[in-house]
Amino acid sequence: MTTQSVALASEKQTYINQLSEHVGSEVVLKGWLYNMRSSGKILFPQLRDGTGVVQCVALKNAITPEVWEALKGLGQESALVIKGSVRADSRAPGGYEIDVVTADVLQQVHDYPITPKEHGTEFLMDHRHIWLRSRRQHAVLKVRHTVVQAVRNFLDNDGFTLADSPIFTPAACEGTTTLFEVDYFDGEKAYLTQSGQLYNEATAAAFGKAYCFGPTFRAEKSKTRRHLTEFWMVEPEMAFASLDDVMTLSERFLSYIASRVLEDRQEELKVLERDTAKLEGIVAPFPRVHYDDAVKMLHEGSEKGEMETKFEWGGDFGAPDETYISSQFDKPVMVHHYPAAIKAFYMARDAERPELALGVDVLAPEGYGEVIGGGERATSLEFLKEQIALHELPEEAFQWYLDLRRYGSVPHAGFGMGIERCTAWMCGIEHIRETIPFPRMLYRIRP
Ligand code: 4AD
Ligand code: MG
Repeated sequence: MTTQSVALASEKQTYINQLSEHVGSEVVLKGWLYNMRSSGKILFPQLRDGTGVVQCVALKNAITPEVWEALKGLGQESALVIKGSVRADSRAPGGYEIDVVTADVLQQVHDYPITPKEHGTEFLMDHRHIWLRSRRQHAVLKVRHTVVQAVRNFLDNDGFTLADSPIFTPAACEGTTTLFEVDYFDGEKAYLTQSGQLYNEATAAAFGKAYCFGPTFRAEKSKTRRHLTEFWMVEPEMAFASLDDVMTLSERFLSYIASRVLEDRQEELKVLERDTAKLEGIVAPFPRVHYDDAVKMLHEGSEKGEMETKFEWGGDFGAPDETYISSQFDKPVMVHHYPAAIKAFYMARDAERPELALGVDVLAPEGYGEVIGGGERATSLEFLKEQIALHELPEEAFQWYLDLRRYGSVPHAGFGMGIERCTAWMCGIEHIRETIPFPRMLYRIRP
């Protein structure tokens, strides 16, 4: 490095998304080479810095021969600092171009593994640590960021208190078949949390309205485009609330998230070629459909030959069933009153038809399926003891939970939403593995 370049690297950085404030002046940009074109005595290095990509113009006779030589052969993802003046150019992708005054190469790269040619998914997933730099992945994760921000804003402004639940837990919440077991101390087993709900029921009794938001683990042996073994779930819980209240909260919540994504992520939605009309349609109220009626729809579907097999009342919906039900509406649809037999032990029952649980799944359109699951919780101590026994769960591990029914038990309700499923839907992408920086799946724990 020349003395001049050391000085350049230590100069104050301007970010590409702030160029509009610097038109006509000189700035120092720090980043990585995204692409390079050249034409005789002009180089067009495209620089990315995490906030955007900008095209720079380096004229051979406007820079020193050393800088020209240093820039000339650079490969993709070389690290560099460019000093140049900002020019507004309506033809440029971001609206600005940089006329290069000088530059400093921090690292030359010539063998970047991800090239503009098509790569297979496995290859890209193996290179996830650098795949994150590409425009599309960048856009997806920016949308995720906005979904998370919207989730927090919505709940914080709606009177919910953030009260996070533990990751190590002594018992199952969502069934024993999907538990990850870990060795705790002195031979004691612990499990990675499947849901913070049981703890939320405690914090809702303490704060009225509470939520937790954190990593969630399911040892699910499903290799579908909707399943991760580690995902992020946000779970609001409200004291003195019913199934209806949960549905109202869900539709307001999703409408707000969609509006925030539309407002804040226009550029990213363009990169993803998302049909934004689909997102504009996510406006409360959403249709509410009783499980019985959803089953009727599926039956009509098989009569019309649109569903392959006849669905049997009592079963859980598979992905094709969910897709068919939601295709009957142009908005997310809330299916409620599922058979209790296919739901978790803590669900409250319909007083008139105790075989039905006061649970709801919100099914997203366009085949995205269940994004929210929730409902009203059972309040009776005796009933819950029975259910814990029926589900073959160890009662001693639930004593603290049963205390919530001993001391001030009230109707309460809540839901959980997977951030990745919501993000995939907002982005309109096929698989949720791209919506988390480093996905964990049945056959993937690396990088
Ligand atoms: O429907 P689930 O299992 O509900 C619960 O865990 C409740 N205890 C939540 C509550 O009421 N507080 O999961 C809720 C949501 C699903 O609708 C889905 O969005 C997401 O969590 N989810 C997954 N996301 C990615 N990969 C998986 N394996 C998921 N399992 C559930
Ligand atoms: Mg569910």
